[in-house]
Amino acid sequence: MTITQMRPTPAPDWLALRDGVPTAWARYTDLIVEHGSGSWVETIDGERYLDYTSGIGVTNTGHSHPRVVAAIAEQASRVIHAQQNIVYHKPGLELHERLPLMFPGDQDAADPITLFLSNSGAEAIEASVKLAKAVTRRPLVVAFRGGFHGRTHGTMALTSSGVRIRGHYEPLVGGVHFVPFPDPLRLGAGSADAAVDRTMAAIDELFATLCYPDDVAAFLLEPILGEGGYVVPSDIFLPRLREVADLHGILLIADEVQTGFGRTGRFFASEWTGAAPDIVVMAKGIASGMPMSGIMARRSLMNAFTPGTHGGTYGGNAVACAAALATLDVIVDEDLVANAERQGNRLLEGLRSVAAGRPNVAEVRGRGLMVAIEFAEPVTLKPRHDLAKAFLAAALERHLLLLSCGTWGQAVRVIPPLVTSDEEIDQAVDILRESLASIS
Ligand SMILES: Cc1ncc(COP(=O)(O)O)c(C=O)c1O
Repeated sequence: MTITQMRPTPAPDWLALRDGVPTAWARYTDLIVEHGSGSWVETIDGERYLDYTSGIGVTNTGHSHPRVVAAIAEQASRVIHAQQNIVYHKPGLELHERLPLMFPGDQDAADPITLFLSNSGAEAIEASVKLAKAVTRRPLVVAFRGGFHGRTHGTMALTSSGVRIRGHYEPLVGGVHFVPFPDPLRLGAGSADAAVDRTMAAIDELFATLCYPDDVAAFLLEPILGEGGYVVPSDIFLPRLREVADLHGILLIADEVQTGFGRTGRFFASEWTGAAPDIVVMAKGIASGMPMSGIMARRSLMNAFTPGTHGGTYGGNAVACAAALATLDVIVDEDLVANAERQGNRLLEGLRSVAAGRPNVAEVRGRGLMVAIEFAEPVTLKPRHDLAKAFLAAALERHLLLLSCGTWGQAVRVIPPLVTSDEEIDQAVDILRESLASIS
């Protein structure tokens, strides 16, 4: 076949071309999107949809924010790829200076926060665990049930949000132990604080039965469970874990891939708790959709990565760095973290009032613009994936894009961009009301 034969005919049949995309991309819609702006996407047929998926929590500054677009175009015209092992570039240098100032913990001039850049969330999680092992020279990691950390072999081994993520890929990387995440609803603990007691007791038991704490390099957790169901733990959880970590010289890794960059009404969700992680993992909102991720830690820890012991061809890509700098500017100048808290409260209140009295709604929960509604049988809490699916479909019919989450796909999450307005939230709540009414 020649190159010309391989090119599509002059007027491609876009609908038919969808069949060429692998089934692995379990897809929520059949839409083909051509434009995005703010909270909205527009299809090739000119249909507009309110995108409250934000591309799975990525487009925090909204779709194609003009300042981000301009920064990308400007940098692309100068240099696209100026590889980190070979040269420095200006947007990279500036990002390494500015992003560490956002670290969710104290700044110390004698031991400043440093940044290592990669391309995807999974890759940054890999970096965080490698760093914890390099620092502590210990072999084990303790992760939390329901957590999602990525799809590489290393990150699958740390993930327990759903069997489909890892089920057919064993054997995975060893040296991982799991304890329950302090989920008040599913642990049946009665209160959020009591759920934390359960988790802490499980850690005690782990150290009494399966592994010694001084073999553990790190605790790895999401401050709020993402794929696992948008579960918000009590704010006492991180400080309690910090105490145990300090007692045993274990590092605390906060996976802020989904919760970071203002999503929860704080720049990082760890800030809600007052306890600082040792390593923070970032991706998604970091560069408004350009593929970028990273970890931050004190220099004394980061220096355990001696030259050549970690790396990657594309990490710190110049265009992605420019997008990340523009993203930071937009978040600060447009006060998006405060807007996330305000609109999040509006959304949570709206969804709670919509769901009040519905027997199959087990909970409406969230923090900032990370909000979910969980469907389950009353009393037994048997998950109702079918209702979540019907709810998603009903919202889609009304041009509102949402995603599911939770181990059984029993919850629906609402993830607006942080630029969303009062009017858009109210419009979404109206659609959520109609959608709920249509399925029950
Ligand atoms: C909390 C969390 N960690 C890690 C990841 C993996 O990120 P990526 O898909 O960019 O590899 C995700 C992705 O959804 C996530 O939500």
